[in-house]
Amino acid sequence: MSRQYRIAPSILSADFARLGAEIDAVLAAGADWVHVDVMDNHYVPNLTIGPLVVEALRRHAPQAFFDVHLMVEPVDALIPAFAAAGASLISFHPEASRHVDRTLSLIREHGCEAGLVLNPATPLACLDYVMDRLDLVLLMSVNPGFGGQSFIPSALPKIAQVRERIDASGRDIRLEVDGGIKIDNIAAVARAGADTFVAGSAVFGTSDYNATLAAMRAELGGGG
Ligand code: DX5
Ligand code: ZN
Repeated sequence: MSRQYRIAPSILSADFARLGAEIDAVLAAGADWVHVDVMDNHYVPNLTIGPLVVEALRRHAPQAFFDVHLMVEPVDALIPAFAAAGASLISFHPEASRHVDRTLSLIREHGCEAGLVLNPATPLACLDYVMDRLDLVLLMSVNPGFGGQSFIPSALPKIAQVRERIDASGRDIRLEVDGGIKIDNIAAVARAGADTFVAGSAVFGTSDYNATLAAMRAELGGGG
């Protein structure tokens, strides 16, 4: 089956002293989205990027699609801030919101696409009743908090299960996978049913972004 594939480099592994140039470089190399990992030292044990940085990046790259992955708790107060800063899509973890349905609505009310993120051990049941509020499901294939971790193999059957749910819903919902994606496993992740691939260290840890993204695209069969 041919899908429109998207590759979303995570700037978590970029050179933070040169973020604008790093984004320019991956977009010029063919990246589709820019993945922004927001961590709060509370929901996850790390501290990264706030709305001010997204606002500066939006000004720097007006056409870019900023895929903002919130690993924060609580979530709701930050949604208007990231939407105003220029996020294109905002995703969050259901464990970090008291009212998942309300948070999903809030994201769309602020003009962004909405996504729900499932940790490796989070059951799929949290997708029940909210499929109509989703533009994206993001499956974590590592535990959130750090770049450069290894892909957890049990994510593969889980991807297939989410793909079945999305197809059964008949809705246009993207299935993104985040964590440990490299040139040598991206094809397997696609075969399991993913259409959008976050890659942090696999992209920014290499010296030639063109070559890395071309190799990933080749593994995907040139799709997208
Ligand atoms: C982890 C983040 C990921 C991370 C992926 O909490 O959500 O987006 O940057 O990094 P790699 O691709 O290096 O596993
Ligand atoms: Zn992420």
